[in-house]
Amino acid sequence: MSENITLREGLSKKEKYEALIPQIVALVEGENDLIANTANIIAALKEVFSFFWIGIYFVKEENGKKELVLGPFQGPPACVRISEGRGVCGTSWLTKSVMIVPDVNLFPGHITCSPLSRSEIVVPVIKNSGVLAVIDIDSSEFADFDAIDEIYITKIAELISAMI
Ligand code: SME
Repeated sequence: MSENITLREGLSKKEKYEALIPQIVALVEGENDLIANTANIIAALKEVFSFFWIGIYFVKEENGKKELVLGPFQGPPACVRISEGRGVCGTSWLTKSVMIVPDVNLFPGHITCSPLSRSEIVVPVIKNSGVLAVIDIDSSEFADFDAIDEIYITKIAELISAMI
């Protein structure tokens, strides 16, 4: 395990993801604690991309009811529980699909954790056709996420899925 994330200067977003992913694999190698590993993955992404907010919500069942529950994150405090189908995260869970929202104010039912958040991407962590978690990233800029984020955050979601 190597805790140091090192990227050279001047890389494009795609190049940053390409350089970061092997380092994330090394970061979690040999450790099987899910909270520790997801905390380090979230921290590595935050360090490289300076996202306004990034975190993971886990699908948890309590008293027969499933909800998304806040897990490791970086950024301002956020809402803890999200129902299936609610907000961007709950919609990603319900539809088992990546949500890219260029302007959160235009997304019906968007859950505002911070008024500074303007665009968002949510990527589901899927195993055996079921959603186990979602990775949520918020930006303070409009339309900050695109297909490149989708491709590489999906790879990270697959990495997390393999740990669960
Ligand atoms: N905006 C999200 C809620 C989570 S926070 O952004 C951290 C949503 O609408 O699902």
